[in-house]
Amino acid sequence: MKTSSSPAGIRRLLEEYRRAGRSIGLVPTMGALHAGHESLIRMARERTACTVVSIFVNPRQFGAGEDFERYPRPLERDEAILERLGCDLLFLPPPQALYSASDSTSITVAGLAERLCGASRPGHFAGVLLVVAKLLNIIRPDAAFLGQKDAQQAVLIQRMAADLDFPVRIAIGPTVREEDGLALSSRNSYLGTDARGRATGMRHGLLAALEAVRGGERAAGPLRRLMRGRMEAAGFAVDYADVVDGRTLEPLERLGGVVLLAAAGVIGGTRLIDNIALRLEGAAVEEMLLEFPEWSRYER
Ligand code: PAJ
Repeated sequence: MKTSSSPAGIRRLLEEYRRAGRSIGLVPTMGALHAGHESLIRMARERTACTVVSIFVNPRQFGAGEDFERYPRPLERDEAILERLGCDLLFLPPPQALYSASDSTSITVAGLAERLCGASRPGHFAGVLLVVAKLLNIIRPDAAFLGQKDAQQAVLIQRMAADLDFPVRIAIGPTVREEDGLALSSRNSYLGTDARGRATGMRHGLLAALEAVRGGERAAGPLRRLMRGRMEAAGFAVDYADVVDGRTLEPLERLGGVVLLAAAGVIGGTRLIDNIALRLEGAAVEEMLLEFPEWSRYER
């Protein structure tokens, strides 16, 4: 694996692959790699000829008082994981390689970015979209791989890529979980034993809602109350427990089409999120990934 910490350097390394006509896959991360990241890297390895992983703890997507400073940065461990998985190139920029004091461009995806996590983390998605747009422009991958775990992020990035005609395929990988159902997250390392035990309450709330939908419930109100109740019983300070349209993220009254059950809350001082996406057709209820290649004019 070769590493570069500058946009020009990684572009030079990529030239060789591009000249050989090899397809390029990008897995953007903030490091502290776990099996969720690993599954995306495996997807990239299967679907594209050259796998680029970026590790960048993006300061612009952390709000004041959030965990930017203490976000885990186990670089040597991450590098060993990437070597083991057969990653071809690592892009590892320091903040000054991507940002300057005079930069003043931002990307707004109206509506979508303000809902769910956007409501309690103002500016977060502006920071995510900016860095992802930069990474897509620097690497120019044929495909980029994102996790369903961060469903709102996945939908927003697909919307941005389609609206701005980024010639990239965005692929979504399923959420990888611990045996007890907790979604893997670099932030799980903050959880003490007690909070770790209770953190599954979020997954249980989502599964209870899924069961109710399978049982025929189509009104969003009772599902929201069910999820919130399970989370509160486990000790979560609930940020949201919502039922929204999977494409627009607008709150639903009645379920139909592509539906996202989404939850966020704080337990033991750590903010966790999780979700289940569903396609509803008549009585049929099917779990799905929020992947919308049809939004892109560059689908190939
Ligand atoms: P990070 O939290 O490091 O996640 C990198 C990618 O891994 C994201 O696409 C995320 O959805 C995916 N991921 C995280 N946990 C997962 C899990 N349990 N199962 C499957 N996929 C999972 O998300 C970010 O970084 C940043 O916002 C980023 C997109 C890199 C922009 O800075």
